[in-house]
Amino acid sequence: MSDSERNDSSSRQDVADSRTSGENARRILKRDPHPHLFRPTSFRSVTSRNRIMLSPMCQYSGQDGLTNDWHLVHLGARAVGGAGIVSTEAVHVEPRGRITHYCLGLWNDEQRDRLARIAGFVEAQGAVPAIQLGHAGRKASVGRPWEGTQPIPVAEGGWEVVSASDKPYAAGWPVPTPLSGDDIAAELDTLQASVRRAREAGFKLLELHAAHGYLLHQFLSPLSNERTDDYGGSFDNRIRFLLESLEAVRREWPAELPLFLRLSVSDWVDGGWDLEQSIRLVGILRERGEVDLVDCSSGGNDPRQQIPIHPGYQVPFAQRIREATGMPTAAVGLIHGADLAESVVANGQADLVVLGRALLADPVWPLRSAAALRAENVTWPVQYERSNIF
Ligand SMILES: Cc1cc2nc3c(=O)[nH]c(=O)nc-3n(C[C@H](O)[C@H](O)[C@H](O)COP(=O)(O)O)c2cc1C
Repeated sequence: MSDSERNDSSSRQDVADSRTSGENARRILKRDPHPHLFRPTSFRSVTSRNRIMLSPMCQYSGQDGLTNDWHLVHLGARAVGGAGIVSTEAVHVEPRGRITHYCLGLWNDEQRDRLARIAGFVEAQGAVPAIQLGHAGRKASVGRPWEGTQPIPVAEGGWEVVSASDKPYAAGWPVPTPLSGDDIAAELDTLQASVRRAREAGFKLLELHAAHGYLLHQFLSPLSNERTDDYGGSFDNRIRFLLESLEAVRREWPAELPLFLRLSVSDWVDGGWDLEQSIRLVGILRERGEVDLVDCSSGGNDPRQQIPIHPGYQVPFAQRIREATGMPTAAVGLIHGADLAESVVANGQADLVVLGRALLADPVWPLRSAAALRAENVTWPVQYERSNIF
């Protein structure tokens, strides 16, 4: 074969190769008409139309623990915007469990009845109405973020705070009163009463808040739990209050409805709660069967935390826990783009993506993302049909 023939044949091969790779590229670029992000999923009897959950986000806009038009519009807009699960912000089980004066509560029937309107509207838009229940413990009684989130002393209208131990959250923060054994029993009853009201209000999914340095997290972490009774010291003792809380929830929460748990998987501080303990805990939860999904967040219990923040920075927690325990998980934290969200679900790193600030900025993030991912069968509400111009 002459040089020119050799060149001819290699260039023919190049053309063939480029044609093949062009086809591959086209095949890769041709989007799956059913992206994983928009595939429905079920927990017990409840089906979410997609894998997107609105993260619980305090609005600091209630009075006496009551929701108002702000909460209806805020949560309603995210349901209209296509989120599969729409969660309330942290709703507190008793007045001293509120973070601020303006946080929500569920310790009376008026609060239940106001929340019922929101749950009903969210569900009517095709989203699953979810409620997060919590207690702020030693991080209660502070000002709103736009007022500086500093502790408000009792003399200035704040209230006494409680915790696992008498360790304040940080220097200058109030010294909490440790809950006694009887107090813990009373807290479990209080939680159970709020769960009953959440059911009566029509919520279809309940998330128990054990993350971000609030009361349940304060019991889990050796950095905040220095008790010497059955609720402190060993791992088994530190998780006891959480396990009893989950039992209390399940006493009121119907077997056909899902229960999620939000966990700070790591304190991001040496000697604190960490991924290894989280895996151990979730393994136990998986065996017990009360919890249907672990929502994997982190931090919030100690101001010394060093968090390496970047897009999807908590996704590895959701992935590791899912792989190690078989428990369904949700990934949360800086998941802002449709492609990242899709890859988290498609690669089996988590069952759900939970979006906070992206959905604050854009209530129709799910519908826009469906368009960006070329998802078929995702429709705008009929009232907004003509806005489908993207
Ligand atoms: C304004 C605001 C309020 C929040 N309130 C809560 C809350 O009530 N409960 C909770 O578990 N997390 C709360 N978070 C944390 C978010 O749910 C979420 O985990 C966090 O913002 C990271 O997700 P993102 O990067 O998608 O915003 C709040 C976050 C923000 C920005």
